[in-house]
Amino acid sequence: MVQKYKFGKPFPTEAVVEEVALQEGELPYLRVEQGEKLCFSYHLEQEDEVYGLGENVRGINKRGWLYQSCCMDEPNHLEDRHSLYASHNFLVVKGTKLFGVFLDAPGIVTFDIGYTHLDEMRIVFEEPDVMVYVLEGDSILELVKEFRTLIGRSYIPPKWAFGYQQSRWGYKTEEDIYHVAKMHRDNHFPLDSIYLDIDYMERYKDFTIDRERMPHFEEMVKKLKEDHIRLVPIIDAGVKVEQGYHVYEEGIEKGYFCKEQDGKEFVAGVWPGKVHFPDVLNKDAREWFGNQYQFLLEKGVEGFWNDMNEPSIFFAQDRLDRTIDEIAAFKGKNLGLDTFERFMGLVGGLANNTEDFKKFYHQTENGTISHDKVHNLFGYNMTRAAGEAFERLCPDKRILMFSRSSYVGMHRYGGIWMGDNKSWWQHMLLNFKMQPSLNMVGILYTGGDIGGFGADATEDLVIRWTQMALFAPLMRNHSAQGTREQEVYRFDKQGILRDTLNIRYGLLPYLYSEFMKAALRNEMYFKPLSFVYTDDGFASQVEDQLLAGDSVMITPVFVQNARGRYVYLPEEMAMIRFRSLQDYDTKRYPSGHHYIEADLGETLLFVRKNKMLILSEGGEYTDAVKTDYLKVLAFVEDKAEYEWYEDDGMGKDYENPQNIRKITVSADGACACEGRPVRLEVEML
Ligand code: GLC
Repeated sequence: MVQKYKFGKPFPTEAVVEEVALQEGELPYLRVEQGEKLCFSYHLEQEDEVYGLGENVRGINKRGWLYQSCCMDEPNHLEDRHSLYASHNFLVVKGTKLFGVFLDAPGIVTFDIGYTHLDEMRIVFEEPDVMVYVLEGDSILELVKEFRTLIGRSYIPPKWAFGYQQSRWGYKTEEDIYHVAKMHRDNHFPLDSIYLDIDYMERYKDFTIDRERMPHFEEMVKKLKEDHIRLVPIIDAGVKVEQGYHVYEEGIEKGYFCKEQDGKEFVAGVWPGKVHFPDVLNKDAREWFGNQYQFLLEKGVEGFWNDMNEPSIFFAQDRLDRTIDEIAAFKGKNLGLDTFERFMGLVGGLANNTEDFKKFYHQTENGTISHDKVHNLFGYNMTRAAGEAFERLCPDKRILMFSRSSYVGMHRYGGIWMGDNKSWWQHMLLNFKMQPSLNMVGILYTGGDIGGFGADATEDLVIRWTQMALFAPLMRNHSAQGTREQEVYRFDKQGILRDTLNIRYGLLPYLYSEFMKAALRNEMYFKPLSFVYTDDGFASQVEDQLLAGDSVMITPVFVQNARGRYVYLPEEMAMIRFRSLQDYDTKRYPSGHHYIEADLGETLLFVRKNKMLILSEGGEYTDAVKTDYLKVLAFVEDKAEYEWYEDDGMGKDYENPQNIRKITVSADGACACEGRPVRLEVEML
């Protein structure tokens, strides 16, 4: 059951798509404090667990830290941070009581979840306007489903976007791109797409192509597609200020950029230097910006990633000018402790200064509103601009789209990647833990940069990270320029990496089926153990294992030089230790704690009781993965049933009942599949 309560005059974020009647009475569960700032508080008992907040730092259970919803270009995902690129104000409290709450407020919100006082949660709003949705149900999974129904169906990417993808900020020319493609194909590393980072553009101008670096762009898109490799260009939020640049000139003429109070366009600095931000909260401007994607769609491009859309501001022009003057005044002075700190603070305070959010405005259907009050909606609406445009421009085709910044509601238009992580072991685990929290708010198509974006990767890190990402819908290796190159062909142990990628393509039928069912039924694809094994007192303490889909529990290795790991089994399960798609060993383990060996080239996973894992024979790209033969690895005590979802992976006939086929395996090993004939080979675990 969902109840809606209103405080102040909430901005219509359009995060929620279902009609919910407004309640008049007192807010249940939370205590309302109308002090200097609106605050909701809740007493936490020792057994209470708090889940949610989508993309953020720290654990799956959010107790014990202070989080903030304030979308930021934050390249250091350290434990002492309070927010990353997204704002997902949805929480579930489970313990003495069970309830969910969505705080639909697009300004800055602070969640003190047992930070100031271990046993108190305080939610503080910078703006007094908030629509509150309180959800009740019998389990966390039920609450999540209820919430997901409220906010609408998740974005569904094309099937090729479940293949392996290669990216690096540093591929500059056609030769660079062809080289990446050739190295994968010649060495038989499966691959489905290559990313174009900002260097494909002419001076970082959105919807342009640098013809010196990429003179035959259209031909390159076509040739690579013939080789089953898609090119995925980046689009940044800021539009370069440059006379003669059509997007800039059109935006100015139509008044579609965010403006300051005096009516002049707000100037920020990002990659191209001075930029204006398209006012994506304005319906007409959003439509106009979305239409620009056609420039690349008509060149054969079928996927995009939206970046810098918090929006990231390296500097606001007026602050930069003032800062330069202030810095000049330090010349010749003797800088001591305080003055040196002040000096450093001047430069440090330039980027992403929340004070600058107050300087520019959006023209919305609900009037003019300053950016700081709706800050967290920018990335959502930039991606919505694209998503709505794809519906208009190519309604029958799925286009790959994911964003860096997001708010609840954006999940209908695209996925997200987890931003600029580092080549650190702890970031692998951090990204792992974000996955279920993101699923709770509808973001199913997600993954972190494999191998880490910043800092230098080591070979074993790339191997372990690739293994960890085997079940991530978005499986992309991406890194920053200047860091050690980390494409799979750069390393000595290429056999291990090739075998790992082959396993991904073997897993594809299962992975795709589980993703599609989760999307179409408003369910989670990645679940923490405690959401499923609700009576297991220990499950909630396990945050380095997840259920991936209905059949499998994944247990990656997150520690350098480890040759195995401790695994907690909430019930008897069947282990599969993969070395390659053909070479693996299996063993049943009883419930409890076990140390299980997993050498560098080995990936561990577990099949649940009366469940099965379906495997294809693999392929070097998704189109090559055949599904007329499946190997079925089943752990059957009585009977295992599997609903296998399969479609053409491109169109939108999602609800066609023929997309689902039931596979059954009985205890004697007999196996059957309804519908279209498929050759099944059963292996009993
Ligand atoms: C941002 C993005 C990163 C990209 C870089 C250059 O840091 O998060 O993925 O490579 O910008 O465009």
